[in-house]
Amino acid sequence: MENKLYIMDNLKFLQNYKDQKFDIVYIDPPYNTNNKFKYEDKNKNWYFDIEKRINLLKNIIYSTTPVIVSISEDSLFYMYEILKRKFKYVFEPFVWQTKNCYNQNKISNISAICHEYILIACDKKIKTNEEIYYLNKEYQEEEINKIIELKKKRYNLKIKLKQNLKEYKTVVIDGKEIVIIPETEYIISKEIDINESYKKHLYQKRTVQKGHGSFRYYQTIQRIPNFNKNTLYFIKNVKDKYNLNGKFLLGNNYFQSISNYIKIKIPSFLGYYQPGIKNFQTAKPIKLMERILTAFKQNNQQLLLDLYGGSGNVIIAANNTGFKTISVEKGLINEEFPGKFIIENLQKHKINFKVINDKN
Ligand SMILES: C[S@@+](CC[C@H](N)C(=O)[O-])C[C@H]1O[C@@H](n2cnc3c(N)ncnc32)[C@H](O)[C@@H]1O
Repeated sequence: MENKLYIMDNLKFLQNYKDQKFDIVYIDPPYNTNNKFKYEDKNKNWYFDIEKRINLLKNIIYSTTPVIVSISEDSLFYMYEILKRKFKYVFEPFVWQTKNCYNQNKISNISAICHEYILIACDKKIKTNEEIYYLNKEYQEEEINKIIELKKKRYNLKIKLKQNLKEYKTVVIDGKEIVIIPETEYIISKEIDINESYKKHLYQKRTVQKGHGSFRYYQTIQRIPNFNKNTLYFIKNVKDKYNLNGKFLLGNNYFQSISNYIKIKIPSFLGYYQPGIKNFQTAKPIKLMERILTAFKQNNQQLLLDLYGGSGNVIIAANNTGFKTISVEKGLINEEFPGKFIIENLQKHKINFKVINDKN
């Protein structure tokens, strides 16, 4: 048995497939969001098109085959409705965070959708692994530690002042009190022992840009007599994320405090955030798919059907989890040849597969 990639409309595939039945199915259709993706995501017959495919699918799966379906919030109800009518059991949806679309430090005045759902339907009550619904504590800790390490690497600049801030000269510009720290009086480095650095803070070095809140502070310090781009300025009483109550500016950089809390995004207990892949926003995270597939894998389950191939990430996850996959993808808009994107992604990941075209 080898992985196969059918480059064709999955309706045609479902109408013609007569081979070995599938042990597990993954359906990740266009969600009908009306967004501009590399494929059409607007379809006034969406509901009926999905239903038609599920009807055909039922001929080529077992009663114990879990059908795993990804869906967004806008189409969740409709998908649930279809699955409820076609299968005996629809499990509690699995929710995962697709992107980090809020600022933890601000109460946003807009709301945004940043979660997706995975529904699982089956005709027999199959045994599932609880872990897919709730991350266990050990797993959470492991994930958090990984993120902390990553953040530490990114935000690892530290500032050390030779004396206390109070010891330095100050000026007032635009009503802001600014401490002037000459070049000889500070060290900015990755190497400083964090306990020695000023207020034990770590800093993320950022560039001041026009339109950014910090740009006005940059304009302010430029009006200081003898402004020097190597002098470190500390603007007092400026809101800082973690109690520093001020901001360091050096030339056109400022240092955003991240404190010893280290800004982290704790994974939601329902799922976790992972980006898709470049140029394919709706690609599913490989790790997420591995987790879902592992949770449903039984010893005798081997063959997976992936009805909407997209980037091919699901084939990669299936390969890592010990499945052989038959995937169907009709091709993206403006591709040099149909299936180019998925074929190239699979080759990049060194996945062996056979391509079957509409014509052969
Ligand atoms: C949401 S994306 C799938 C993403 C995929 N699971 C991944 O991880 O990359 C939907 C894909 O289905 C494809 N598609 C849409 N309608 C199709 C059809 N009738 N037959 C086959 N593929 C189709 C689109 O071209 C698009 O690549």
